[in-house]
Amino acid sequence: MKIVSIVGARPQFIKCAPVSRELRKEHDEILVHTGQHYDHGMSEVFFEELSIPKPDYNLGIGSGTHGRQTGAMLGAIEDVLQKEDPGLVLVYGDTNSTLAGALAAAKLHVSVAHVEAGLRSFDRRMPEEVNRVLTDHCSDILFCPTKTAVANLAAEGITEGVHLVGDVMADAMDYNRAIAEKRSRILEDVGVRPGEYLVVTVHRPSNTDSPVNMTAILGALVEAGMPAVFPVHPRTRKYLEQYGLLANLPENVRVTEPLGYLDMVRLMAHAEKILTDSGGVQKEAYMLGVPCITLRENTEWVETVEAGWNVLVGADREEIVSMVRGFAPAGDQPPLFGDGRAAAEIVNIIRSGDTISRPGI
Ligand code: UD1
Ligand code: UDP
Repeated sequence: MKIVSIVGARPQFIKCAPVSRELRKEHDEILVHTGQHYDHGMSEVFFEELSIPKPDYNLGIGSGTHGRQTGAMLGAIEDVLQKEDPGLVLVYGDTNSTLAGALAAAKLHVSVAHVEAGLRSFDRRMPEEVNRVLTDHCSDILFCPTKTAVANLAAEGITEGVHLVGDVMADAMDYNRAIAEKRSRILEDVGVRPGEYLVVTVHRPSNTDSPVNMTAILGALVEAGMPAVFPVHPRTRKYLEQYGLLANLPENVRVTEPLGYLDMVRLMAHAEKILTDSGGVQKEAYMLGVPCITLRENTEWVETVEAGWNVLVGADREEIVSMVRGFAPAGDQPPLFGDGRAAAEIVNIIRSGDTISRPGI
């Protein structure tokens, strides 16, 4: 079958790598990059490191307000779908590229499969939450990473075409963990010792767009005093420069450009703790057995909190410092994200074809 896969933002490149590898064993995959992320360090580096095939289309949409960016993608994706006439469109995660891909396909009566379906933070102020809900409601096949995701869909009346397959980010981690260890020199490059530093990522608008929150987070890192490596997302850099918060950081806070996946994996694997507002990084912290301090009030990845390895602190300076010093998960780590074979399972289900209901297949 001809399958159009749509990606556009950093986490989607990582998610599509294992799926694309499996899919191409038996299907004709057309890869569409919307161009939502375009810096080398936010896009190309992942294609190179993860051996993702070069996109067949780069729509070059770039940055913009939600409406303009999503609208531009919608039109451009529609053109591709009309030209390619695929049997299935595959979308990933919860970005504007996800929603535009799902909506363009659904309107053309092309079947939609959503990888990472059913996630909910129940916070409609998050742009991703709107994207998740709408994408799930126009998808025909819903590939869920967790049981919670399946239950969330059921609560919204979505029970058909729902498959619990595990998390494709676990596939990516399994495949690349040893490679990262061998190839990456990131600890040496930033000058930190295994087990003696924090890794920090921040890019959620609820934090970046608030000078109060960003001041609290950086203040906590300074106060905590231990080495903290902070690869800065371009969105975050823009705001930190605007707030004047990047200048005069003490030596313990080491700001870097966004990292490639292999550097990021090795850096996280040897961290004492990870502080983040990223969805993917919360999961990866768990997979790597590193305690996670989540700089948000809520999370879609509730299992990591229930298992005792993740704690939600928002952007509360005192809470962050206290958790950096005192958070020590006690329990063991039951596998929460599958066995690293989610991509193969996805391709099995697509092959069976029995959940594809729309015309055009
Ligand atoms: C997007 C996703 C978010 C995801 C994140 C992953 C939406 C609504 N948000 O957020 O769910 O967690 O990607 O990283 O889809 N920029 C650059 N260079 C780039 C890309 C972005 O400079 O290559 C800057 C631009 O100033 C842009 C800003 O970052 O305006 C935000 O980019 P955008 O793609 O709109 O959203 P993200 O915050 O990256
Ligand atoms: N990541 C990376 N380099 C970085 C920061 C993150 O490779 O500098 C990886 C991270 O390991 C994870 C993914 O990007 O695999 C998460 O993407 P991001 O945090 O941008 O988005 P989210 O998961 O919140 O949607």
